[in-house]
Formats: sequence, structure tokens, C-alpha cells
Amino acid sequence: MTQKIALNLDINGGQYAVAVEARVTLLDALRDHLNLTGTKKGCDQGQCGACTVHVDGKRVLACLTLAAQAEGRAITTIEGLKSEDGGLHPMQAAFVEHDAFQCGYCTPGQIMSAVACVEEGHAGSKAEIREYMAGNLCRCGAYPHIVEAVRQVAEAYLLQLAAYRLAVSHIFAQQPVRAAILWTDGPRIMEIPGDMLDAAQQRLWQLDPANLDA
Ligand code: FES
Ligand code: FES
Repeated sequence: MTQKIALNLDINGGQYAVAVEARVTLLDALRDHLNLTGTKKGCDQGQCGACTVHVDGKRVLACLTLAAQAEGRAITTIEGLKSEDGGLHPMQAAFVEHDAFQCGYCTPGQIMSAVACVEEGHAGSKAEIREYMAGNLCRCGAYPHIVEAVRQVAEAYLLQLAAYRLAVSHIFAQQPVRAAILWTDGPRIMEIPGDMLDAAQQRLWQLDPANLDA
């Protein structure tokens, strides 16, 4: 009889106990042992991105990760993605709005990758989105719609950050507004395109300073 190891996995904020052989991948543990089948198995060899999940906030391929490697780390699957009010995550809503799927098999992996792509700061243009989403294949060819969905969420994210930075700059430092064009995002320095900055400025003037959480 093959020996099993007992694991406690932190998935979507909950604790899951599972006994699996040491060779079992995170993908198989999720799907076959924990009934979390939202994460899909495509190639099972790191080629398609269908199995993408987040581990400690970074995207990983669950088919190339052993379940044992993920113990003690925060795992997020498509089932754990949601907005602050418990509804669809903005990326999920954008995929629906832009019709960014046909059969839907690649979609959970696309969405998990897209969320990470935006948070990494790798969604500054359509070309950049295509480059950083290149590991997620779609056999239905929904790529143009996927890029549109990611771009929409990325713009909203950047706009939110820009408005916030502008507000902080304006209220606390009285710096010229243009000083907020640049900000550091992790290891990168990003630039907000001029039209987005203008939109952020307009948004800023609509903000109630009392609601700013500085
Ligand atoms: S199933 Fe993991 S990359 Fe294809
Ligand atoms: S929507 Fe069918 S594989 Fe992408």
C-alpha cells in the first residue's frame, strides 16, 4: 500500500485536511481530493495555463506544483475570487461583459492569471497584456475579448491608484498634481498615460475628502 502524507492546506481562507501520496500535484489534490473543480486540467504538463491558481498572491501552475509544496501557504482558486461585496470579482464581471470565452474551459485559469497580471503591473498596454498572458492558451481563440476585459480592469485599477495618489498629494503635501504621474508599484516605476491622468483628476474633484482613507 502506498504511503500517504497528511497535509493541511489553506485554500480560499479555509483550512482543508487531506491525505495524499507525496507525488500528488496541487491540481489533483484540488480537483480529486477536495472537489474544487473550478481549476481545470488541460495539458497537465505546464503548457496551457488552465490550472493557474495563486499561491501567496503569485500565479502558479497547479499541475507543476506538488500539494505538499503548498502546505502553509495561502492558496486562492477561482472559487475564492470575489468582489468586496461578495459578488463577482471585477475581472470575472469584465470577462462576462466582454464575452471573453466560448467553451469556458480555459476561463478560470485566464481569470486567475489576469488578476495577477494587473496586480503585477504588467497590464499597461494591450501588447503587454498579450505578453504576460501568453502562458494561458485558449483553443476557442477568444484572445481579443480576453485582452479587452483585462485592459478594462487594469485601467480602472490604475485610475483608482492615480486618483488616490493625486488626492494624497493634493491634500497632504500640496505638491503639483503632475508629481503623481509616477509612482512605484513593487519593483517597477509606472507611468499613467496622460488621458488617464486627466480622467483621474476629474475623478479626484468628485471625491469627498471625508471619504479618503489616507
Ligand atoms: S494543466 Fe497545468 S499548464 Fe496545462
Ligand atoms: S474559451 Fe474555450 S478554450 Fe478558451
